[in-house]
Amino acid sequence: MKSQKVKIFVQLIVSFTILCTLPTVRALKCSEVEYCSALRNRPPANLYIVDVYSIQIDDMGIIRFNLLARSGIEDLEVNVFAYKDDILRVKIKEFNSTRFELSDVFAGAPNLAGVQSVNTEATQMTITTNIGSRLLVKFSPFNLEFYRNDVLELLLSGDRLFIDNPTNSQSFSVGLVFPESDHLYGLHQHATGLTLRNTEAAEPYRLFNIDHPNYPINDTDSIYGVVPVMYGHGPEFTAGIFLHNAAQQFVDITHNTDGQNMAVFMVEAGTLDLFVYLGPTPAEVLRQYLLITGTPYMPPLWSLGYHQSRYSYYTQEEVKDIVANFDNYNFQIDAIWLDIDHTDAKKYFTWAPQNFSDPIEMQQNLTATNRKLVVISDPHIKVERGYSVYDGALENELFVKNPDGSAFEGDCWPGTSSWIDFLHPEGRAYYASRYLYENYPGTTPTLAGIWNDMNEPEVFGVDENVMPGDTVHYRDVLHKELHNAYGMLQTRATHDGLMERDNRTARPFVLSRSHFAGSQRYTAIWTGDSTSTWEYLDISYAMCLNSNLVGIVFCGADVAGFNSDPDDELYQRWFQAGAWLPFFRVHSHETTKRREPYVFSDDVQQVVRNVIQLRYKHLPVWYTLFHEHIAYKTPVIRPLFFQYTYDTNVFAIYNQLLVGTDIMVRAVSEPGVSSVPVYFPGGSNEYWVSLDGSTVYQGSGNYVDIPVTINTIPIYYRAGSVIPRKDTIKPTSTDMYDDGYTLIVNLDSSNQAHGTVYLDDTTSLFYLNYVEYNYLSLDYSGGELTFTKIDSHANSGQFDLVVDVVVTHQITELPSDGKPGKYVETRYEVDSSGNLLKNMKFNFKNATKLSLKLQ
Ligand code: GLC
Repeated sequence: MKSQKVKIFVQLIVSFTILCTLPTVRALKCSEVEYCSALRNRPPANLYIVDVYSIQIDDMGIIRFNLLARSGIEDLEVNVFAYKDDILRVKIKEFNSTRFELSDVFAGAPNLAGVQSVNTEATQMTITTNIGSRLLVKFSPFNLEFYRNDVLELLLSGDRLFIDNPTNSQSFSVGLVFPESDHLYGLHQHATGLTLRNTEAAEPYRLFNIDHPNYPINDTDSIYGVVPVMYGHGPEFTAGIFLHNAAQQFVDITHNTDGQNMAVFMVEAGTLDLFVYLGPTPAEVLRQYLLITGTPYMPPLWSLGYHQSRYSYYTQEEVKDIVANFDNYNFQIDAIWLDIDHTDAKKYFTWAPQNFSDPIEMQQNLTATNRKLVVISDPHIKVERGYSVYDGALENELFVKNPDGSAFEGDCWPGTSSWIDFLHPEGRAYYASRYLYENYPGTTPTLAGIWNDMNEPEVFGVDENVMPGDTVHYRDVLHKELHNAYGMLQTRATHDGLMERDNRTARPFVLSRSHFAGSQRYTAIWTGDSTSTWEYLDISYAMCLNSNLVGIVFCGADVAGFNSDPDDELYQRWFQAGAWLPFFRVHSHETTKRREPYVFSDDVQQVVRNVIQLRYKHLPVWYTLFHEHIAYKTPVIRPLFFQYTYDTNVFAIYNQLLVGTDIMVRAVSEPGVSSVPVYFPGGSNEYWVSLDGSTVYQGSGNYVDIPVTINTIPIYYRAGSVIPRKDTIKPTSTDMYDDGYTLIVNLDSSNQAHGTVYLDDTTSLFYLNYVEYNYLSLDYSGGELTFTKIDSHANSGQFDLVVDVVVTHQITELPSDGKPGKYVETRYEVDSSGNLLKNMKFNFKNATKLSLKLQ
């Protein structure tokens, strides 16, 4: 009891010290933002009726009609588009609107599908699209209903529609009802659980990119990124929306009088441009969204390995020492990171002259052991004549401007700075060209990744520490109209720069703090400046699951929290959980104690070593999932409800995740526990085999208390899966390239199993440009593994499937009466004819199907 009190007291002191040393940002509430409080206080009233005489359909199948406003506000024009793949879009704006329309979010122009028929009656019009969906336009009062196969999945409720355009405001509100939903999800990024909560008596969710150190947990405050995508999910149907608008938004979540979930968006500026995805499953909604906003290139394999970072490593000698220590202590690592102090006075694209006097030699040293370097590059550019990055941008007028046309100046890490205007195509091109080897002295291909930070964009000492809304971008766009997209546009330029730098042959790696819809094409993200407490570990799963739901799959959290020092237990638990998020990096504030794994006790080191090794063993799984994300638009990690869509018990679970479909992990995010409850989904035919021990659980839809030690967290393979692993322990992922696979065959109750594996050269774009890859289905039945090429057109000759070992997990005792079952593990090192498996090669130059007999 006494020690518990002491612990709490120490924690209080630690928290107090953190609060005192960190800059505080006071995020505004809706009531403090003029447009939001006006819209929120407006009682629902339907102000619009459809002008039936205005209805037109053009040759492309775009439907247009006008809304007549009832009370002194402007009439509106509605455009409805039906795209292929069950995607609909509605744009509502004033005639001759001068509102800003985003154009940089789309991966390509969506394909119109056209309209099959329009049936106009006295009070309503039914539009049947060529894609099977149906829109019902109610004339008076105006309402828009979206049906898929006669199921009403979404309603744009006219009584919340209000588009206001007095001189100083372009705000609008729109209400969306999801009649089939049990819960609403999405509205990334918040530090909350997965399901969106009712905000009637609380603050609405705010979508406004902002730096928020030690951001509040379980709060609707905005933080670094915004993706205005939302899912309404129920056991039978899922619908989704994307509000294609980058201005500040507040969103109220309520239940209307029929008990239906409603979201009311209150938006500061820009156009009401709404995409509607009629699912009907979460996977379909995500696919429909990603068809519009795109997916990334394959990440280079090294970027899925372990990353060591700190604010800051101060010298080139330190960098070399750290990497040497990772080798000495036998910890795998692929990349080391340099924060702001590697630069000369925070001038990006330069090196600190004393401490990094020979960056090329440092990179050669890293290259020798196949390590990569990632450096930070923020969007603020130090105001200093003679600094070429500044001079060039100023002379070409590529900075964000003040209303009077001069370059905006504000304070950030370097002192007085200006900010590149990334909306300006020349601003992006100029910035991209800074990454060319000839423009960035001291760089080599070993500097393989760039970290864009502070790109909300952060400006010290002004309201909410962000760029003022009245600053001006390309073509007189006000910052407030595109605020949330600024960071995305920076990463786009960085990504282009890295592509150009390597003659469009190497895959870029970029990490960004700020992000928006479409960012997934250019960058990975992390959860920002968290604190080393259990709450932040817990919420990191929800945050990355949410980012996967909104299409930014490459997400991680600073292990083991950015601010303050974790104790040994939290450090180990954070490693164990963090290794199962797509991006896996240790990073912490300059005032924290050193956190490289080798500075801890031998016992802690051993736990962490095992965790990192487990991550590296599963690299083929992560890599394959990224291929499948690109090919099928599936998330890399997913919440249980995404897979088990019908099971209402899983709808709010966020501390348990699925890696693909076949690995389930439960973070241990509570201190001092010897067991944690784990939910097993999937029904009576689904079985989960535990990675530690040989226990089998049934997907009975129950929580089971699972014992844990400091060495373990609950991790399961789904029975019926084949998990491709590389169990050879090598210092880096590059060193593992030629190693053979260990195929873990988890047999289902009928002794079958299926998996996939993707192979390519791991770093180039040949997989894309020359279809040079191999993608195989791995199927086990009757003692035989069959390997089948999935993409028959792929040039797979140089990507042999090399098998080292096959391990089967066969259920020997089914779970019953609430008791877990058992499985037996059999290790095959020879095939049925006695040939040694180690390094057995299966070549697909001419073959499409090969097999391996084990018994
Ligand atoms: C910001 C970043 C943090 C970084 C620091 C210094 O706080 O979020 O990760 O270390 O800036 O660049």
